[in-house]
Amino acid sequence: MAKENIGKVLGAEIVDNKILVPYVYQLTIKVAKLASEIKPGQFIMIKVAPGLEPTLRRPFSLHRVDKETGTVQIIYQVVGKGTEILSRRKPGEEIEILGPLGNGFDLGEAERIGFVGGGMGIAPLLAVAEQAVQEGKEVVSFLGAKTGDYLLVKKEFARLGKIFIVTDDGSVGEKALVSKPLEKYLKHHDLDLLLACGPTPMLKALAAIVGAHGVKTQLSLEQRMGCGIGACLGCVVPIKADTPEGFVYKRVCSDGPVFWADEILFEVPKATEKQGGCSCG
Ligand SMILES: Cc1cc2nc3c(=O)[nH]c(=O)nc-3n(C[C@H](O)[C@H](O)[C@H](O)COP(=O)(O)OP(=O)(O)OC[C@H]3O[C@@H](n4cnc5c(N)ncnc54)[C@H](O)[C@@H]3O)c2cc1C
Ligand code: FES
Repeated sequence: MAKENIGKVLGAEIVDNKILVPYVYQLTIKVAKLASEIKPGQFIMIKVAPGLEPTLRRPFSLHRVDKETGTVQIIYQVVGKGTEILSRRKPGEEIEILGPLGNGFDLGEAERIGFVGGGMGIAPLLAVAEQAVQEGKEVVSFLGAKTGDYLLVKKEFARLGKIFIVTDDGSVGEKALVSKPLEKYLKHHDLDLLLACGPTPMLKALAAIVGAHGVKTQLSLEQRMGCGIGACLGCVVPIKADTPEGFVYKRVCSDGPVFWADEILFEVPKATEKQGGCSCG
């Protein structure tokens, strides 16, 4: 995976900020410098409003980039103060961003690639799945959400290859967690590489499944972030290492957010536990 970087502070113009389904928005910003550099799996930090409130920028993964128009898209869910303010920003307004940040996905030499997206984690996978198809790779996708309406960009994934769909309420596809169709699939098929993004419990379940099947897997992790550039240590997660404790803490923002599944220690022994996350505004 790519080396760490600290991004650049850039001014962007809001081109569009539209609601897709309740509480979920698609933001398009024009910022040619970012569009020319950002890669799938990387993220940006957005200062949702000018002034002091909220102080900290918020992290969002790249959904799509168009180098020709110099535009970058994210899809975000309104969960608190920052995202609520962001949802009220209008086309034509200026917004400050920091990016590109993080390492991004690495397709390497893999030929058959699986994609597992859960909820909002579906959006960051589209750009890398499209890249895989452009590079002539075979794509199979597993998408899960609470209801059919939240299966974001399902049609776009369907154009790229075979897809398996599940929902929590059974409104579209099987009523199941997304790990179920993946597990079934791996009993009869091989994948060279799997990329996944979604809630931590989903990623933990996937790590166990792919471990049992020996599938190389990259997981995009989320943690609350302070600086986004490796300075505050607010976003650390335990990563297996040859140390007396058996792990070291790494920063999701600058060492990740993409890590190999078999490196991640989802449970830390209580005595050595250190809480990641940042409680500032
Ligand atoms: C690398 C990265 C990429 C991300 N990409 C996206 C994306 O593409 N789309 C999207 O909708 N969200 C994404 N997130 C999560 C997003 O950053 C948070 O939802 C956002 O910062 C919340 O800000 P807020 O001020 O609205 O909420 P707050 O008021 O700060 O928090 C509201 C609730 O959301 C939880 N929360 C806040 N930050 C995070 C976080 N980083 N991870 C998990 N839970 C959090 C809090 O614990 C709290 O329960 C990403 C996070 C990271 C670290
Ligand atoms: S958010 Fe500050 S080190 Fe990662």
